Amino acid sequence: MSDAALTLALSKGRIFDETLPLLRAAGMEITEDPDKSRKLILNTSRDDVRVVLVRASDVPTYVQYGGADLGVTGLDTLIEHGSQGLYQPLDLKIARCRMSVAVRSDFDYAAMVKQGARLKVATKYTTIARDFFASKGVHVDMVKLYGSMELAPLTGLADAIVDLVSTGNTLKANHLVEVERIMDISSRLVVNQASLKMKQAQIRPIIDAFAKALADKRGMERYGFALPMDEAAAKVLIDFGGRQWLVWNAHFKRERIGDVPT
Ligand code: PRP
Repeated sequence: MSDAALTLALSKGRIFDETLPLLRAAGMEITEDPDKSRKLILNTSRDDVRVVLVRASDVPTYVQYGGADLGVTGLDTLIEHGSQGLYQPLDLKIARCRMSVAVRSDFDYAAMVKQGARLKVATKYTTIARDFFASKGVHVDMVKLYGSMELAPLTGLADAIVDLVSTGNTLKANHLVEVERIMDISSRLVVNQASLKMKQAQIRPIIDAFAKALADKRGMERYGFALPMDEAAAKVLIDFGGRQWLVWNAHFKRERIGDVPT
């Protein structure tokens, strides 16, 4: 690999899966399946680009200190880590979920807040939680956890948790209810600031390709919802993958919208 090689840091799971279509739009495929080997460095179809697999919470660290030139990381992780040394050109709008406060269904959160009670809050996201409760003027004792936050209110460790919610199934399964929505979360592209200067010619086209793929996807979402689904002959001009298409009998399904056209 040459000195000018680019390293992209990704974490396995939703972020990895949902970044693949964007990479494809930027003209590269990851040629190895991370679930079929223990390899942490994966090749791509481009000789000058490789992917390193790191823990989600380590992505900003890798990019900040130059272990990777670029990375994809959740807004939650970025806020907790701090954005020093990181250029954040794009909200990729992938791995979307929300950061929320949840309590046991028999805990009267609203009354406790109204009374000015001191709350015990368990979370992995202490910066987000501290800022949120400070902005509400609620006093909290923070208990730092690294996972299975839902257990904390069930075992008496805490009154409330601050955690990511996607479908809400985990809360439901543990008899917890969401009482506040703190912020919407999605994943961001982060770039090492020095790499952006030194490897401008390689990095810029990738950022531009990601941005174009996102714009195309937004266009598809817009047209997809605007189409008169029940009409026999819908006729519409769409901008798809950088080209214009005239479509008859257009029927777009919601499930297909996740794919980014190549
Ligand atoms: C997150 C979060 C919840 C769950 C919520 O955990 O901490 O436990 O997802 O998802 P749901 O609303 O769709 O049920 P994740 O699986 O990311 O693992 P983690 O506990 O390691 O953060």
